[in-house]
Amino acid sequence: MSVTCRKARVCYVMMLNVFLCVLIGVLRNHGHDKGDRRVIRIPTETFWRQHAVSASFWNKEQQRLDFIYNPVINSAISGNSIAELPDWLNDTGPLDPCEPDYRVPTQIVDYNTLPKQLQDFLLHMRCRTYPMMINQRRVCDEKPFLLLAVKSLTPHFDRRQAIRETWGRAGVLANRTVATVFLLGDTMSVDHFPDLLGMVGHEANLHKDLLQWDYRDTFFNLTLKEVLFLEWFSQNCPQAQYVLQGDDDVFVNTLRIIDFLEGLSEVKAKDLFIGDVISNAGPHRDKKLKYFIPESVFVGRYPPYAGGGGYLYSGELALRLHNISQQVVLYPIDDVYTGMCLRKLGLVPEKHSGFRTFDIEEKYRYNSCIYRSLMLVHSRTPQEMLKIWSWIVRPELECQ
Ligand SMILES: *[C@@H]1O[C@H](CO)[C@@H](O)[C@H](O)[C@H]1NC(C)=O
Ligand SMILES: *[C@@H]1O[C@H](CO)[C@@H](O)[C@H](O)[C@H]1NC(C)=O
Ligand SMILES: *[C@@H]1O[C@H](CO)[C@@H](O)[C@H](O)[C@H]1NC(C)=O
Ligand SMILES: *[C@@H]1O[C@H](CO)[C@@H](O)[C@H](O)[C@H]1NC(C)=O
Repeated sequence: MSVTCRKARVCYVMMLNVFLCVLIGVLRNHGHDKGDRRVIRIPTETFWRQHAVSASFWNKEQQRLDFIYNPVINSAISGNSIAELPDWLNDTGPLDPCEPDYRVPTQIVDYNTLPKQLQDFLLHMRCRTYPMMINQRRVCDEKPFLLLAVKSLTPHFDRRQAIRETWGRAGVLANRTVATVFLLGDTMSVDHFPDLLGMVGHEANLHKDLLQWDYRDTFFNLTLKEVLFLEWFSQNCPQAQYVLQGDDDVFVNTLRIIDFLEGLSEVKAKDLFIGDVISNAGPHRDKKLKYFIPESVFVGRYPPYAGGGGYLYSGELALRLHNISQQVVLYPIDDVYTGMCLRKLGLVPEKHSGFRTFDIEEKYRYNSCIYRSLMLVHSRTPQEMLKIWSWIVRPELECQ
């Protein structure tokens, strides 16, 4: 290309820009300022966010992670040492994140009045690594089309068995490979559980579908179960195409799920995350509620999130969630936490009417045809699961 030609092109682009600016200016004046008064409005209040430390514990811990993982700050640092923390964040707690964090009681004004479970969570929330007591390395040997990951609790033997006999049967379904794992923590004597280790060991040998980690299996540790599963997934099953995560008291129409997944476009499949999405929620401030979170711990609204009963996402997204979760401080409510990770990835979970974590109308509960079009319903007993599954797989059943 000759020099003059290139110059001409540059001139042309510049003139086009000037023309566009003028045009936009004219249009804006025309739209907003009919009287052609050029009023410069100076906001009376500050419109930028001050770089201040949050008074709420979780938010402050998140600010610290945001700083550490800020790519602009870190690209300026040579080597792989992380950025030196500014004074306002230089209070990092114990060196070993799995030691109880005794800064917590001094940094949360009403710590001593909080429910014991929440106190426990806050003391240990920086620890994310717990050894596995039971692992299955071969579950994904045959690349699963769909991995079913079911959150369970050691004493729920009958629920797991019902799932194995119905919607969670591993093998080939509708010509697709399905694999199943149950996610367990440890039910300990401090929480008044009987010793079930022997029975769980037997069950693991028999079915080879249990994953168990050595941490206390409680409500506020469910987020831990989530991140430990994502870690296991990225190490042992990264080739699975889709993941359905659910509780052990949901009924899943696996056939319908496979059918749905087969109809997805490639673009849609990559970022897939669907469930019973809750938008515009925020923390409960009523101390009597199970989900109570005080202002001293968290301020702000929750991002859109899929209710924890069950959701469906792509294996590729599971890997990204695993990565990003390291940049999000653990939050005691597991489904909200997953919503926070999605938001950090710039994604929004999609609501699908086939997910009924708040159940269906009572009058349809025993309507055998209804279940054909649903994907997931909460909650069902083991006996109900067997009954509903027989409705779904019975080919002579005619439904419109
Ligand atoms: C935090 O501050 C102490 C002294 O005030 C300093 O020795 C330490 O290097 C700082 N740590 C970080 C990570 O900036
Ligand atoms: C089953 O799936 C395999 C590969 O996934 C495909 O090649 C085959 O055609 C399928 N069979 C039927 C009956 O759909
Ligand atoms: C979560 O598990 C850890 C490890 O067993 C335990 O120290 C902590 O108290 C548990 N947290 C809750 C809220 O139960
Ligand atoms: C996860 O992070 C690692 C290292 O930071 C990177 O190599 C890998 O590509 C990431 N994976 C995904 C799926 O983003």
